[in-house]
Amino acid sequence: MKEIILQTTVKVCRYEELDEEDRFLVDMARNAAKSSYAPYSRFNVGAAVKLDWGTIITGSNQENAAYPSGLCAERVALFSAGAQYPARAVDTLVIAARNADGELSRPIAPCGACRQVMLEVESRHKRAMRLILFGTDCCYIIEGGAKELLPLSFDSGFLEG
Ligand code: THU
Repeated sequence: MKEIILQTTVKVCRYEELDEEDRFLVDMARNAAKSSYAPYSRFNVGAAVKLDWGTIITGSNQENAAYPSGLCAERVALFSAGAQYPARAVDTLVIAARNADGELSRPIAPCGACRQVMLEVESRHKRAMRLILFGTDCCYIIEGGAKELLPLSFDSGFLEG
């Protein structure tokens, strides 16, 4: 039987090792987590999107008493970016999270639905986004974008047959 090996490359570094521009973007995401509305999970997530021309848009998770009506930080930021600057590709997306004990020590991993939305943004603009997942112990950098986090993914190509 034939095998297909799917590989994901994740670079690992400490926050202090990031360059100044990335640290700034990471700090935007960390700050955005503070404006999260998460009275149900008490899990606060922040996202910062840097567009291809440098504009930064942030988002945070917004929960609802009817649970599924809420939205993750990544999608709040990406949809806001798409609504304001529909022609611009995403260069970098940073995610950071905190709970009642403070910031998470290990890098936050985006949920499956957010990965699917990231993928759509990438295919829409024909450009992979760089992902930085923040943790106080270390950060993960995925240069290859959402495709690396969602192999064998469903995309518009299937709709065309
Ligand atoms: N959440 C995000 O905003 N992003 C993620 O990547 C994971 C989960 C939110 C959804 C919900 O408001 C809370 O975190 C707990 O799942």
